[in-house]
This record gives sequence, C-alpha cells and structure tokens, in this order.
Amino acid sequence: MNTFNAHLGIRKEIRELTFSPIREIVRFAENQDEVVPFWFGEPDVSTPDFISRAGKEALDNGDTFYAPNAGIPKLRKAIADYMNDLYQTEITFEQITVSVSAMNAIMIAAQALVQQDSKIVVLLPSWPNIPAVQKIMGARVEGVPIQMKDGKWKLDLDQLFDACGSDTSVIVINSPNNPSGWTMSTEEQREVLDFARKKGVWIVSDEVYARLSFKHNHAPSFCEIIDSDDRVVVVNSFSKSWAMTGWRLGWLTAPVEVSKEFEKLTEYNVAGPPPFIQQAGVVALRDGEAFIQESNERYLKALSVFSDWASSEDRIEFDRPEATFYAFFSVNDGTDSMSMAKDLLIKHNVGLAPGCAFGQQYDSYLRLCFAASLPKLERGLEGISSWLQGPIGKK
Ligand SMILES: Cc1ncc(COP(=O)(O)O)c(C=O)c1O
Repeated sequence: MNTFNAHLGIRKEIRELTFSPIREIVRFAENQDEVVPFWFGEPDVSTPDFISRAGKEALDNGDTFYAPNAGIPKLRKAIADYMNDLYQTEITFEQITVSVSAMNAIMIAAQALVQQDSKIVVLLPSWPNIPAVQKIMGARVEGVPIQMKDGKWKLDLDQLFDACGSDTSVIVINSPNNPSGWTMSTEEQREVLDFARKKGVWIVSDEVYARLSFKHNHAPSFCEIIDSDDRVVVVNSFSKSWAMTGWRLGWLTAPVEVSKEFEKLTEYNVAGPPPFIQQAGVVALRDGEAFIQESNERYLKALSVFSDWASSEDRIEFDRPEATFYAFFSVNDGTDSMSMAKDLLIKHNVGLAPGCAFGQQYDSYLRLCFAASLPKLERGLEGISSWLQGPIGKK
C-alpha cells in the first residue's frame, strides 16, 4: 500500500492532531453518575434573557438571510463603539471583522498570517486550540513558558525575545491567560510591541477574558497602545463575559488593510455568523454591562472561597489569578495530570481539567473553572480535600 492510501491522503498536520485531554476526561466520565464538573471554561448560567430575546425577535422578524462577510454594519459599529468607550481609542468599524467565535477568529488570523514552515511563538500554559491552529496551518510552534517564581506567574521577556528567531512570523499571546489567570501588564505589552515593530513580527493577542478582571474594569489591552497600522490582531469573544458560549460569536480587530483580507477569509470559512445572532450581539454590547459586573462579583466570591480553601491545603501550590474564572494549581508529588483527574473523578466524582492539556510541563497541574454556585464549589472542594489525603493517581 502506498503512503497516500495508508493515510487516505490526509495531511500529516491533521493526522498528528490529537483530541483535547479535556474532552478525554469528559468522555471518561460519560457513564458515571453524579459528577460535579468544573472542567469546561464557561459561565454556569445560560445567556441573559435580554440577549436571547433580541436573537428571537430578529429571527421572528425574518432576519435569516446571508449577512455581509465582515459582519452586519450595525454590529461592527457597536463593537467599535464598545471598544472605544472601554479603551479610550479611535478604532473604526472598518477595523472590525465579526467572526463565528474567537476560535474561528484565531483560525482566520492564522490563515492570513502564518507562513508555511515558519515559527509561531506561543506563551505557555496555553489553551490547546491556539497551538493546534498554527500546526494545522503548517507552522512550527515554539512554546515559551511563563514561569512560576516565588508563588507568582511571571513572563521572562528576554526568554520570549530569544525564542523569536528570524523565521518567526507571529507571536501569539493570550492574556488574561487560560488556564493560569496570568495577566500581562501594559509595560510588558509595550516592550513586546516595540520588539515586534523592530522585527516586523505579527502579534495575535487573544483577549477573550479582557472583561473578566477582578482588579479593574478590563485587563490591559494591546488596543490601548497600538497605532492603527501596527501589525497587531486582537481577538475577542461574546462567549465568556456575556454567557454566550453556544452562540458562537466573536470578532477581530486589525489594521483596515488586513481586515479586508479577513473579510475574504470569512467567506471561505463559514461566511460569517447568522444575522439574528449578530443582532443579539448588538444588544449584548448595548445593555450587558450590569450583567458583566454581577457575574464578576459572583466569580470573585467563588475565587475567595477557592483561595481560602487552597491556603489550608499543604499539598497544592496556587497563584490567585487577577482575571479569568480559572484556578490552575499544582499538586505536590503529582506527575500525571490525566491519572490524577481520572482518580479524582472515580473516587470523589469531581471533574477537573488535566494540566497536560495546556502543555506537557503542566503534568502536576489541574484546572478548576470556578464559574459555579457556591454550594457546588464547596461540594467539589470537599471532594478534592478528601482525595488529597489519599494516594493521588501517579505515573
Ligand atoms: C484563550 C481562549 N481563547 C478563545 C477561546 C474560545 O472562545 P470562543 O467560545 O469564542 O470560541 C477560549 C475558550 O475557552 C479560550 O480559553
């Protein structure tokens, strides 16, 4: 059998893709009753009524036809206004491309910017889909780990710059970071921007957790420091802060010239999100601030419960995040995060995401999404405490 037939002609990059370890642990739990799950990164409540109603009304009004590739003008303008209010910027609606989620936005950015065989530098730990997309596009991915030093996550900028050789075309940064909650400061963003300007490297900044900040109204954004023609693409999503994960709605902010290229790419991907979903997005931006504040207050309470619990547990190490709804903690003597996650599930019915999903070196880590009611969180933490007293799953 020749190689073509052996692989059905499937590209090597696709054959080498793996399923997410988070999906693996969820599948493992399929036949187990009464699991308390904290594995997915999403709010614990469904989309607020005022947003759902806007979507339903648009549907009832017959807003069911093909939409413009870059998004309906009303939403592009609403997004530009929202960002300008938030960041005190002068982003124009021509810089905005509406996408079917941040996932789709990351893919569109990669389709436009990733050169075959070039190197893409990604900060670790990382949401697994970010490196996967670069690999699908035929790039080599180099991970630069932010380091845990004295109990705090810290980025070594020199290490990042050293990793960017002449063959690097894009640096992908996700701040606030899934899973660690690490948040890049404005000063660090300035240094990375200076470096990227000098080298002609693109920055793709995934800012889907921008509004999930516990200290400020928003986390620092590249939008606040760039010129309109800088080689920077910012990715955003309605999923997290507006509780719209299932709607699949996001956007890209980029220089106008690049947005024109993105507009072409949306056509050849999925030709943009359904128009009635985009109408709901307009209302989410217009009326969603109170919901964002209330949700963040709830998450902050949950984080305090988690932090108090964590400081009473000697076997775990944890840096309290400034943003996101994730607690990413390492377990002393833990060496195999998938075995740990399975063991915890079998023995105590608690579902966490294994650290290996976010980079091989995080195999002593587990991630818990604390977007959960306090009783549920307390139940889960009780289970983890009992588990930590026993022999944890090891390699
Ligand atoms: C860092 C990061 N980027 C993007 C996404 C995807 O967002 P969306 O639901 O808009 O595809 C996620 C979801 O977990 C994420 O953690």
